[in-house]
This record gives sequence, structure tokens and C-alpha cells, in this order.
Amino acid sequence: MSKNSGPKVSKKFAAYPRLNPLGVGKDISAADLIDEVMLAYNGGRLREASQLLAKKMLPKDGFIGMSLTGALTPAGLGKSCLIPLMKAGFVDWIVSTGANLYHDLHFGLDMQLHSGSPFLDDVVLHRDGVIRIYDVLFDYNVLLDTDAFVREVIQGPEFQRSMGTDEFHYLLGKYVAARGKKLGLKDSSVLATAYECGIPIFTSSPGDSSIGMNVAAMAMRGSALLPDVNRDVNQTAAIVYHAKSTGHTSSVWILGGGSPKNFMLQTEPQIQEVLGIQEKGHDYFLQVTDARPDTGGLSGATPAEAVSWGKVDPDKLPDSVVCYTDSTIALPLLTAYVLSRVKPRKLKRLYDHRDAILDVVKQKYLKSGTVTKVLTSRKIAKRSSSIGLKK
Ligand SMILES: NC(=O)c1ccc[n+]([C@@H]2O[C@H](COP(=O)([O-])OP(=O)(O)OC[C@H]3O[C@@H](n4cnc5c(N)ncnc54)[C@H](O)[C@@H]3O)[C@@H](O)[C@H]2O)c1
Repeated sequence: MSKNSGPKVSKKFAAYPRLNPLGVGKDISAADLIDEVMLAYNGGRLREASQLLAKKMLPKDGFIGMSLTGALTPAGLGKSCLIPLMKAGFVDWIVSTGANLYHDLHFGLDMQLHSGSPFLDDVVLHRDGVIRIYDVLFDYNVLLDTDAFVREVIQGPEFQRSMGTDEFHYLLGKYVAARGKKLGLKDSSVLATAYECGIPIFTSSPGDSSIGMNVAAMAMRGSALLPDVNRDVNQTAAIVYHAKSTGHTSSVWILGGGSPKNFMLQTEPQIQEVLGIQEKGHDYFLQVTDARPDTGGLSGATPAEAVSWGKVDPDKLPDSVVCYTDSTIALPLLTAYVLSRVKPRKLKRLYDHRDAILDVVKQKYLKSGTVTKVLTSRKIAKRSSSIGLKK
């Protein structure tokens, strides 16, 4: 964007750069297109989001939690964007729908998905054994074979217990990575890359996907695998506390909304309101979504609303960005931008330290209150009454 050069700028516009776009040339890079051409409306928000990532979220080794909703991996965004971002050290932990991880398996197992059309006859597709996700098509056997892979893997002894979904996905990723090696694949699965990079991946609703469906089926065959959702809630909060207590920023990069958005954001109220540990909220908030705020649903809830819950640090609110667009447009552009503007970072490998990270929060919590009362760090009016079993 043009600096305020040329004719003198009136004082009232001093804070606002002149809107003076570059003419698009045939060799323009994605990053320059964003900086110099996307100047207003949701294009402008995408530029702000890109710059927020490059100038505030990623520097000084800030922690980046990414949440994934919408059918991103079926559209190829795992391979094209998420894996390059993970390998560059730009994503430190993830909360995903099970669907994105399930459909990632197709790529990790070298199955074929096809670019189709949203205007096909679904009755004919059903007859022909073709599955459709809007304009992405694949054979019904892709589902059956992926399901069989999940069931075969999880019948192994290391899966016969309760575990956090980060551990479950790590172990699953190990098998996907091994299968990928056999098939001669490179960088094709998010789960396998997360395993290799030590990036914890959680899912907020472990039963709500074909992975969860196969885990449930295997329970009827005597499998002892059970998602430990309590561990997930505490472990995600512990990652955020680890970031903040070691002098780093904690950023949320939200694609879509849904339950992964809340699962990522609720880490702060878990630390402050429930565990009674002093904290201020996430530092930076970046969301790409099509969800509107006026229905009251969490998907469309703004960062300002999140401040009231203690999810976002009120002092950092002006830095928040919400871009109302489709993630399939925004994510490739954001990825291209940060890969060209920011040097790769050292991997944090948070998964490798999961027990130690959790233990710090546990010890702090056990000191900060009792079952009936926790200390609150918020300066709010004294409560006139309280409700408890003995009242
Ligand atoms: N076979 C499977 O395993 C399977 C398949 C589909 C869905 N599911 C499950 O259904 C649940 C819902 O998943 P979902 O991902 O469809 O979430 P969703 O439809 O609830 O979407 C969540 C939010 O993201 C927004 N969003 C979705 N796509 C977007 C895009 N491209 N760009 C911007 N915003 C977008 C939506 O508007 C919404 O606000 C999950 O638990 C998932 O695991 C499972």
C-alpha cells in the first residue's frame, strides 16, 4: 500500500495510508498482491490477517494454535497449505474436526479424490458408488478402505487404553507415516506430518467423524481405546499456559468456527475461571469464516465478544482480524504470504513435552483453590451471593 508520500496529507488522515493500489503485472507474487492490491473490505481483512501473522503472531517464537473446520483436507488444503505451514514451524498445535483428519487419511494412503462439480445428480452418484463433498468426488471404496485401515491400526496393543486425542492422533500418524514411506509418498498427510514434527492434534468431538465411528465399532469387539476428553481439555489449557508462563504470546488462527474454535478459545477460561490461575487471554485472534455474529452462535462470535469471556486479552483486541471469506481462498494466500515473508521457525515439538506441560498447570491449580472456591484474577464486583451444595 502506498505510504503517505506526495501531496501533504491532512492531519485527520495521518493514521491511514493512502489507498493507492499497484497495477497488477504478470509476475506479481502472492505476497505483493496481498500487500499492494488487497486494500479494502474482506481483501483488506486478508491483508491485515497476513500482516498480523507475519509481524505479530509468528515473531519471537509466539505460539500458534490452529483450529480446522469445514471440509479443508478433502479440498487438498492439507497437502497444499497445512503441511508446508507445519513443516515451517508456523503451527504449534491444532484442534481439528475428526472429518478433516479422516479425509486426510485418504491422502496419506495414496487414495484418489477428484475435482468434480457441485451440479451432478446425487441419485446417479449414489447408484454409481460415488461420494460427493460439494465439488470433490471419490469412490465409496475410499471410505471402506480408510475405515478398514483405522480399524486394523487401532486393534494394536498400544491403542488398548484410554488416551488424549493428541496421543491417539500421534500414534495413528505414526502408522500413516510408515504406510506413506512404503508407498513412496512425501508430505501428503497432516497426521503423518504432525507425528514427524511433534505437533499435537486434538479433536473436540472424538465421536463425530468416521474415525470416531470406527473407534466405536471396535469397542463392540472388545477394544479398550477410549478418548480421554478431560485430558484434552486440561492439556490444551496447559499448552496455552506454557506459552504465557514462558514469556511467549499465544495466538489462535481459526479456520471456520464450530466446536474446534471454542475448544481452542476455552483454554483461557479454563485457566482463569475454572483452575483459578492468573491469566489475561489469548494475545492474537485471526479467524477466517462465513459465519455471522448476529445469530449468537459461537462460530460467528467476534473477538470482542471473546474478550468478555476472558478468552482474548482486552489490551490486544485492536490487533484481532476476522476475514469473512471461504478458507479455500484465504488459506492458500495466507500460506504463500507467510512462507515468503517469514523465515522458517524451529519446531517446538510440544507433543514431546506433553506430560511436563500438563504437570505445571496441575501443580499450579492444586495450589490455587479448593473444589468449592477458586481464586479469581478478574477485578469484578464482589459477588453478593454464591451457590453451592451447602447453601
Ligand atoms: N466423514 C466424516 O468423518 C465427517 C464428514 C463431515 C463432517 N463430519 C463431522 O461433522 C462436524 C461438523 O464439521 P464441519 O467441518 O462440516 O463443520 P461445520 O459445518 O459445523 O462448520 C463450522 C463452521 O465453519 C464455517 N465454515 C465451514 N466451511 C468453511 C469454509 N470453507 N470457509 C469459511 N468458513 C467455513 C461454517 O460456516 C461454520 O461456522 C464435525 O464434528 C466433523 O467431524 C464428519
